[in-house]
Amino acid sequence: MTELIWDGKYKDGKKQGPVRIALPFQTIETVNESTQDRRRNLELFASGRDTEWRNRLVWGDKKYVLPSLLPEFAGKVNLIYIDPPFDTGADFSFTAAIPEHPDAAEDEAIYFTKEPSIIEQKAYRDTFNSYLEWFYETAILLGELLAEDGTIYVHIGQNVSHGVKLILDELFGPDRYLNQIIWKRQTAHSDVAQGSQHLGRLHDVIFLYTKSENYQWQMQYTPYDKDYIDAFYRHVEPGTGRRYRLSDITAPGKSLKGNPRYEFLGVTRYWRFSEKKMKEMYEKGRIVQTKPGTVPAQKRYLDEMPGVPLQDTWLDIKPIQSQAAERAGYDTQKPETLLERVMKLSSKEGDLVLDCFVGSGTTAVVAEKLGRRWIGCDLSRFAIHTTRKRLLGISHVKPFVVQNLGKYERQAWQEAEFPANGKNHLEEQRARETAYRRFILDLYHAKPFSGHVWIHGTKGGRMVHVGAVDAPVTLADVKSIAREAWKAVGRDKDAPTKAGVDVLGWEFALEVNELAKQVAAESRVDVAFKKIPREVLEKKAVEKGDVRFFELGALTVELKQKDRGTTLKLADFVIPTDDIPEEVRRAVKHWSQLIDYWAVDWDFKNDTFHNQWQAYRTRNEPKIELETKYSYLAAGKYTVVVKVIDILGNDTTKTLEVTVK
Ligand SMILES: C[S@@+](CC[C@H](N)C(=O)[O-])C[C@H]1O[C@@H](n2cnc3c(N)ncnc32)[C@H](O)[C@@H]1O
Repeated sequence: MTELIWDGKYKDGKKQGPVRIALPFQTIETVNESTQDRRRNLELFASGRDTEWRNRLVWGDKKYVLPSLLPEFAGKVNLIYIDPPFDTGADFSFTAAIPEHPDAAEDEAIYFTKEPSIIEQKAYRDTFNSYLEWFYETAILLGELLAEDGTIYVHIGQNVSHGVKLILDELFGPDRYLNQIIWKRQTAHSDVAQGSQHLGRLHDVIFLYTKSENYQWQMQYTPYDKDYIDAFYRHVEPGTGRRYRLSDITAPGKSLKGNPRYEFLGVTRYWRFSEKKMKEMYEKGRIVQTKPGTVPAQKRYLDEMPGVPLQDTWLDIKPIQSQAAERAGYDTQKPETLLERVMKLSSKEGDLVLDCFVGSGTTAVVAEKLGRRWIGCDLSRFAIHTTRKRLLGISHVKPFVVQNLGKYERQAWQEAEFPANGKNHLEEQRARETAYRRFILDLYHAKPFSGHVWIHGTKGGRMVHVGAVDAPVTLADVKSIAREAWKAVGRDKDAPTKAGVDVLGWEFALEVNELAKQVAAESRVDVAFKKIPREVLEKKAVEKGDVRFFELGALTVELKQKDRGTTLKLADFVIPTDDIPEEVRRAVKHWSQLIDYWAVDWDFKNDTFHNQWQAYRTRNEPKIELETKYSYLAAGKYTVVVKVIDILGNDTTKTLEVTVK
């Protein structure tokens, strides 16, 4: 067999493969689950039984997500559709709307395009070679996840499709190749009209492979075209207006094939049907004789015919129009009709569908509508947010979870990135942590500062604390940081000069922010909380120096309690201005314009955030409510968590305690 080779495919004569660490998934949110379902699942879990299936939206890099799916799903996925990034530019940018001011009379949302971050662009890689390697690693794992009767659809641009085809042949076998579908995704390309010296590039390619020769297949049909109908379905039934054709019912091969010969409506012939059947059909009006003496024929209605069996050139699925209801502002969004066709061809209700580049969520949305189970993954936070919103727009959407690999992904990264030698495990761990902290301080342009437990560096006179990879920054941490801060100020010439600390963390416990700020202020220490961005995990982003640490947003919520009833109102929302693109900053005149979505868990139980209520903007409903009510069934103390997602896709949470009497 012909094999495609690129630099790095073999090392010391051995074929290289993907990362194969299986990390545990963390559920960060459960969406649309009723209180009863939640209780039942907790009970099932507690008794060690299987919990009910939940569809899964996973935020993370497929490099870690796919191997982590293997222990549970190897050989269990019935249908895979992927639409990986392949075309520089469009794949990651998205258009978000800045909604109008709440007091504005007219709807005049302003749109802006968010450019891809370095981590998102990274998927394009710098060369064709590394793209092939990236794709190869993906396809190996997908092949292992696919069920014996499963099918994989790889939707890809023509610029990389030839390399991709050879890789799929190598991994699935050339005899498992079913089709190359040509999808015409545009009607005309403007660059050609403007004089480009090549033909308009209008199509994408979708490769279709199966795992074995026994695969699921439900043929789909397209409507007949008008010329065909005019030529073959010439008759129209008076009264019903149904179109039909007349087909020959005399038997080919006469008696040689055992066909009966008898007289019917005065005509004697060899017929296709028995005399009994012929009479039945006649009584039902299915056999007609146009004139006495002519050979009777069968009436076939156009509306009973399935249509033309589907071919491999798909010209009938139109790109999403600018005003279409399904449009989510995602440049690479695919039409739902495309995914419907794919799912109807190769899956049935209850089957499991996987898309590890889910983008705006088309695969998950269509799977949900067609009653398939689904797993969708994407590394972009905006993609996860867009998908969640689209799913919530489906009436009776089944409960689903939002997951990531959280600290486990970071631990794996820390171990791989900072190998350490030591006499024992503890020493190694210490050396690794020191190397890790230095690395983060360096990215933050801070200097290391030794001799303290909680203060690790200095920057511009302020102190810097670097949070651990595997634990959130807690209120207790903030207390220790504040206590130590005073000891560190002004001791020697390199010491910090101000009682201010930048606390860098991957995650922050829910109570951190206001409460922690308050605690710090009581100790007269000025604390700023900054998120260590995901980009840090990516070598290329680090090399390109595109790592920015953003301050946490601050949300003010007002709660009013009357008996069992609670009214919750958003009162203010601040995102540090560094994080907001200039055009957005200029356009935003009221804090609520920054809010795209918010949700409330009225009874947070320290497990995952359950959004029991949510409000969000859509293209048709651009206004968002800022107040909601809830009625508790029983007296008690409850923890309420409010989660806001801003128009850039970032989330901010706020925790409150409620006492219901
Ligand atoms: C072409 S878009 C998919 C669009 C999608 N089919 C739709 O209809 O909206 C490709 C997606 O892959 C995601 N992506 C790129 N590299 C990834 C990776 N390594 N892991 C997971 N997702 C990735 C991007 O964030 C982007 O949303």
